[in-house]
Amino acid sequence: MIDYPKLRNWWSQQARTLPTQAGILAVDNELESAYRQYAEWRHFRQLVRLKQNMNVLEVGCGGGRWALLIAPHVKHVTAVDFSDEMIRVARQRQQQAGVANLEFVTASAAEFMSSLHYHIIYFSGVLQYLDDDDCRRAIRNAVSMLAPGGTIIDRSSCATPNREVCNNGAYQAIYRTKEELKSMFQEFGFRLTYHSSSYRPMRLPGRLLVKPRVVNALSWCMRQHPVPTYLLVRIASVLVNWLRPLPQPPSCFHRSHDFSRFELASGS
Ligand SMILES: C[S@@+](CC[C@H](N)C(=O)[O-])C[C@H]1O[C@@H](n2cnc3c(N)ncnc32)[C@H](O)[C@@H]1O
Repeated sequence: MIDYPKLRNWWSQQARTLPTQAGILAVDNELESAYRQYAEWRHFRQLVRLKQNMNVLEVGCGGGRWALLIAPHVKHVTAVDFSDEMIRVARQRQQQAGVANLEFVTASAAEFMSSLHYHIIYFSGVLQYLDDDDCRRAIRNAVSMLAPGGTIIDRSSCATPNREVCNNGAYQAIYRTKEELKSMFQEFGFRLTYHSSSYRPMRLPGRLLVKPRVVNALSWCMRQHPVPTYLLVRIASVLVNWLRPLPQPPSCFHRSHDFSRFELASGS
């Protein structure tokens, strides 16, 4: 069982201590988080076609990085998180960015309901923080908020062959397998139409990453000129992985996420 108040405190603490990363875990530095942000966003755009007449719901929005990226491409975004601190950071960023068609709401993923119908419902790294019953509640609620022909995108850590329960003190998570997730959605009439790792972590030579000047310069380039910088870092990472393959994937806390796209089997 997940102890939600304890977990919420943990996330609020993250928002207070790491506001610029608010919600992006498994990253050791600003460069990795900028790289990850761009790589995942690029991938997300291939998964769904955002249109100006769409309503989008994001559940587990953290500091709002996804909602702020999505909003300019759609009609309206509702973004939900159970941590007041995360929502505070997200609203602050919204104000700085001057984005109007975006509403941040403090609510639990299992309980949030709206009378709006959403063309895309995005669980953006949150289902792993719900126990099985609440995960089902969140999916059931999503079904009733989904517009006809709508799509659910999930971004969870489900790269291991077995279910893994993580309990590092206040940090708790249930890392489900792809099959578990798929069958949970199937219970509500969904079929899995896409599944792939959300991004491949950056891997640059360790000697470079200990030099703050190099990391700061690359982070700046990643934010200002994402396309060439991403390609450069990606090619360098492929080379490092090829020259020095990792013996096994990193452990539970530091794992990449997977994108899954679910659509109603009936297509309605
Ligand atoms: C891994 S972070 C992802 C944040 C954001 N989606 C991103 O990718 O940057 C998980 C987020 O889910 C939120 N969260 C965890 N459990 C939740 C729950 N039961 N209801 C609502 N939000 C929850 C946390 O507060 C945190 O902001």
